[in-house]
Amino acid sequence: MRKKIVAGNWKMNKDFYQTQSLIKDLIKHKMPEGVTVMVSPPLTNLQAACKLVKDSNSNIIIAAQNMYYKGEGAYTGEVSMSMLKSIGVDHVILGHSERRSIFKEPRHLIEDKVAAAVNNEMTAIFCFGESLSSRKIGNEFRVVRNQLKEGVFRLFGSAWDRIILAYEPVWAIGTGETATPDQVQKMHFYIRKQVAKRYSQKIADNVSILYGGSVKPNNAKEIFNQPDVDGGLIGGAALNANDFMAIVNAF
Ligand code: 13P
Repeated sequence: MRKKIVAGNWKMNKDFYQTQSLIKDLIKHKMPEGVTVMVSPPLTNLQAACKLVKDSNSNIIIAAQNMYYKGEGAYTGEVSMSMLKSIGVDHVILGHSERRSIFKEPRHLIEDKVAAAVNNEMTAIFCFGESLSSRKIGNEFRVVRNQLKEGVFRLFGSAWDRIILAYEPVWAIGTGETATPDQVQKMHFYIRKQVAKRYSQKIADNVSILYGGSVKPNNAKEIFNQPDVDGGLIGGAALNANDFMAIVNAF
């Protein structure tokens, strides 16, 4: 069965010391049974976060926010999968709309990264979602279908136990504007249907589909209650232990 997951994407927030302090705060909380909790600090702080989690026997998963798909070599500024794995990181967020829009990551690069990650026994949290202009003209389902096709639908079915989907409509990210539970459910149902069509009902039933975009303690429950919503990818509210734990406990 698919997992319930709450993942915190810290983006470019929290220095080395702040990271340790937030991880320590999270570790103090009792995690609910049956919910996988994941946090994604900035690259410079991953190792410290992993050590804190390991030393306290916590089952919080530490994920990276990015990686490059080549093994090693002359790629200034990049980090490889084996580098991440060597410090205990085997989950990575890929295709985030901020990587797509601010850093101009093209679709084929995202596809290469996702394929490399899953082929190297990492789990990829593949992010996608439509812009406001696409939704305004009723194009959201088509945009999402294309992003799935270009990002993950060329993978073998066997790779899908290392894929987590994260639907993040761009207009809801960091804006305080959340998609309604109904809008989220409709899209998640559609996404699962596309996976079933491309692969099988079994793969579709087993893949976790997270929602991201202004999830807060006061709206998480309603969103997580939707039948095709398996959790959330949380930005702003993941930067505070109490808010994040309130969301984790919203299932
Ligand atoms: P916010 O929760 O701040 O809207 O960010 C969502 C997000 O982009 C998570 O990856």
